[in-house]
Amino acid sequence: MKISILYSSKTGKTERVAKLIEEGVKRSGNIEVKTMNLDAVDKKFLQESEGIIFGTPTYYANISWEMKKWIDESSEFNLEGKLGAAFSTANSIAGGSDIALLTILNHLMVKGMLVYSGGVAFGKPKTHLGYVHINEIQENEDENARTFGERIANKVKQIF
Ligand SMILES: Cc1cc2nc3c(=O)[nH]c(=O)nc-3n(C[C@H](O)[C@H](O)[C@H](O)COP(=O)(O)O)c2cc1C
Repeated sequence: MKISILYSSKTGKTERVAKLIEEGVKRSGNIEVKTMNLDAVDKKFLQESEGIIFGTPTYYANISWEMKKWIDESSEFNLEGKLGAAFSTANSIAGGSDIALLTILNHLMVKGMLVYSGGVAFGKPKTHLGYVHINEIQENEDENARTFGERIANKVKQIF
């Protein structure tokens, strides 16, 4: 089973969180995972993935233009029925990262993907829409990113 983690990142913060989430996916076990900048997507691996985790910096309380461009131009992939999840990084707690997550989930639904937040049922981190990493206050919360990755991987295995 495969999971792709796709991200855009200009100053490295979203990339760093993507790699933490990858660690969590690996911790789940029996999953091949690739973490890829949107500039360098392994198309075959992406198409073969049962799960795709999308990560974006929060720009003007929404997704990055790079993420929007990739989604708009990704019609070569058939993502129908795959499990999708989202994470975002932001500077401020009220900076609009939840809106960025909703925008990603919205786009994934248009593509026919199943969407999963990671859930609150398992307790902390309580990811209502997906994982949010606030740079100023979450410097020591890297484990939450790993746990998010592990939960998405567990759900992919449960469904597929
Ligand atoms: C053009 C631009 C717009 C941004 N807008 C927001 C914003 O609306 N809210 C916020 O909390 N942070 C905002 N930020 C900060 C970034 O979301 C934050 O630094 C992010 O972690 C950067 O990710 P990166 O290092 O992967 O590029 C903005 C940054 C840029 C460059």
